[in-house]
Amino acid sequence: AAAEKGGYATFMEKEIHEQPHAVADTLLGRTDEDGRLTLDEVRIDEEELRAVDRIVIVACGTAAYAGMVAKYAIEHWARIQCEVELAHEFRYRDPVLTPHTLVVSISQSGETMDTLMAVKHARSLGAKTVSICNTHGATIPRESDAVLYTHAGPEIAVASTKAFLAQITACYILGLYLAQLHGGAGARNAEEVMRQLQEVPAKITDVLGRMDRVKEIARFMADTRSVLFLGRHVGFPVAMEGALKLKELAYIHAEGFAAGELKHGPIALIEPGQPVFVVVPSPSSPHNLHDKVVSNIQEIRARGARTLVIAEDGDEAVVPFADEVIRVPQAWWMLDPLLTVVPLQVFACELATAKGLDVDQPRNLAKSVTVE
Ligand code: G6P
Repeated sequence: AAAEKGGYATFMEKEIHEQPHAVADTLLGRTDEDGRLTLDEVRIDEEELRAVDRIVIVACGTAAYAGMVAKYAIEHWARIQCEVELAHEFRYRDPVLTPHTLVVSISQSGETMDTLMAVKHARSLGAKTVSICNTHGATIPRESDAVLYTHAGPEIAVASTKAFLAQITACYILGLYLAQLHGGAGARNAEEVMRQLQEVPAKITDVLGRMDRVKEIARFMADTRSVLFLGRHVGFPVAMEGALKLKELAYIHAEGFAAGELKHGPIALIEPGQPVFVVVPSPSSPHNLHDKVVSNIQEIRARGARTLVIAEDGDEAVVPFADEVIRVPQAWWMLDPLLTVVPLQVFACELATAKGLDVDQPRNLAKSVTVE
């Protein structure tokens, strides 16, 4: 069993360390001889894909957070209206779909019943379907009009890590693919974004090499009862995923919030000593998002929060308000989630280990939920 884990104590640690490969392999072989992006299986003609005027992403759990990142990327690059919905909510809501709606499902296993039923429902209403999946020939890709496979390799630990990074990568590729089909401004950027994506695996390796302090913080926090996570823009789903990892692995009450929502409620939770992770947007983000989140850190710090700040190298603005600064390398702001989520995975894994918990098989959870 030790050999299966490649020298790591757990599958979770092994899979966290396989993330540079998961991203690199998912990027492989995506362009045709003309340099255009391609999907893996397309059983639908390009004209129909070109006619798509709305996208609905359906998924559950971690995959749904990858979908939230996708919404930002697809709308920004392809200029197609995009929404994300939990698959189990979507299906019973009497959703409005047309033949010009593209329903994108995201599923590591390709067998999650709620997601599968959402895809079948979408098809029955005439919508087109694309599957982003990590398991070749699984039920959901077989039921879909087109497939984009992630290449994270088999994921054994119940809580998802490397599949999440591969899903986000696939979502970027899909966003750029749709941008090329639609010929928007994003199409002109596609080559440059793909080039920047190629640099991400080495940056993830860099992040993984900096995790000593994060692990130390996790061990100090083994008795913590509640942790909050704030993020904005593509950092919002990262905050949600950071909270989910902590719930799943360490059984600690954790909640992720959109930083802009702080003043509309969550700030009432801040009391002296409350740990709060803040995922800070890159200073290169548009609309001054970086400065707005720095103000949020200042606000919660003034109320006694213990601020654990994830920020880009060279971002000095966060330093005066951070109890801890966790650094990640600089990247194109849209690609940040591939780096900023890693310390949160390591934190949850290490804290759970410090509590003596089984990080590979957390209580009550199943790797793939094939019942409703
Ligand atoms: C289960 C797993 C989660 C996973 C979710 C969706 O709840 O414990 O880690 O995110 O299913 O799984 P899928 O295979 O559809 O991505």
